[in-house]
Amino acid sequence: MSQHARVSQRSLRFTESVIREMTRLAQRHGAVNLSQGFPDFPAPDLIKAEAARAVAADVNQYAITWGAKRLRDALVAKQERFSGLAYDPEREVTVCCGSTECMASVMLALVDPGDEVIIFEPYYENYGPDAILSGAVPRFVRLREPDWSFDPAELAAAFNDRTRAIVVNTPNNPTGKVFSRAELESIAALCRKWDVVAITDEIYEHILYDGAEHVSLASLDGMRERTVTVSGLSKTWSVTGWRIGWALAPAELTGAIRKVHDFLTVGAPAPLQEAAAVALAMPDDYYARLASGYRERREFLVPVLEAAGFRAFAPRGAYYVMTDISEFGFPDDVTFARWLVADVGVAAVPGSSFYSDPSAGSQRLRFHFARKRETLEAAAERLQSLRSRLPVRPESVTRG
Ligand SMILES: Cc1ncc(COP(=O)(O)O)c(C=O)c1O
Repeated sequence: MSQHARVSQRSLRFTESVIREMTRLAQRHGAVNLSQGFPDFPAPDLIKAEAARAVAADVNQYAITWGAKRLRDALVAKQERFSGLAYDPEREVTVCCGSTECMASVMLALVDPGDEVIIFEPYYENYGPDAILSGAVPRFVRLREPDWSFDPAELAAAFNDRTRAIVVNTPNNPTGKVFSRAELESIAALCRKWDVVAITDEIYEHILYDGAEHVSLASLDGMRERTVTVSGLSKTWSVTGWRIGWALAPAELTGAIRKVHDFLTVGAPAPLQEAAAVALAMPDDYYARLASGYRERREFLVPVLEAAGFRAFAPRGAYYVMTDISEFGFPDDVTFARWLVADVGVAAVPGSSFYSDPSAGSQRLRFHFARKRETLEAAAERLQSLRSRLPVRPESVTRG
């Protein structure tokens, strides 16, 4: 190897995930980890039993690259049950290694270098690198506090002849926003006007509060033919490590997505696809209990954060709480997050990692609550001591 190992320019244009760095810091400091969004409670027994059965039955070789037939059939049945949309399991479904791989495969399949992709911010951090890897130019449209609404004029101004796609994540990470039907109608009208593809990330589709309704963009007039609907098993069934996700899209788009997916990963884990088919067929009350469990966790954590001095933006969906940390007087979010994990023992994600311009999130911090009650209680106990541990001059603390 030469002295200067050469890496691609592309790889230099994004940094390591801040979220995963926080998880490592949490481990180092023995902190309660409310940073990376994965559950610490068990997955449903029914699907674990099916995964074990499939391994024992030697479902151990490659599945069909775009997904085992049983899973694709279960997927289209589930989609029709919840959104009323019918898809052809033979031509319109791609099963990937998590929705993360779906997103990357979809961008690589549909976007050419120089095309613009509209992304609402704050945004789930993977969309930035996905755009860079596909050569796209991201155009960010701001979701504004406290309700994370967007300015319709700003959105309209982001569309132009070079716009190829828009990414819509609802329910949203990190804000907990659930896009309303009216908002989605206005996005749909712009997609139709500019002939733009919508790529939706609906991974939190079943985690909703306060009567919020999840609307799939593909279900709106004229949108099925121009929408790629991405979702996955990770969040609804508490199996983020299984790596099963899917993209539903018209046949022409699916053909391109399947080709990219095939050469990136060949296919998702075969025995876990069998278990996924069982998961998708679970009765409505499973989904209702999932949402009510998360509502209880939200109702526990939000007041704890407020009592500790954070201004919390209570989510209407997904399992995150974005907070304002200005009260504490730290120079920026990364310094605060490092102090919080080391001195208070709670890990959260610096808000700047969700913005294209880090200064926009420099007084924000994101917590998640996909945690057992006792884990949240341990976090609450530590957060109670936050004020008494504050440094004398927080504004002059430097990054550790
Ligand atoms: C908005 C969003 N999309 C996708 C993912 C990742 O999903 P998967 O495990 O299916 O790759 C996450 C995980 O945190 C997420 O928050």
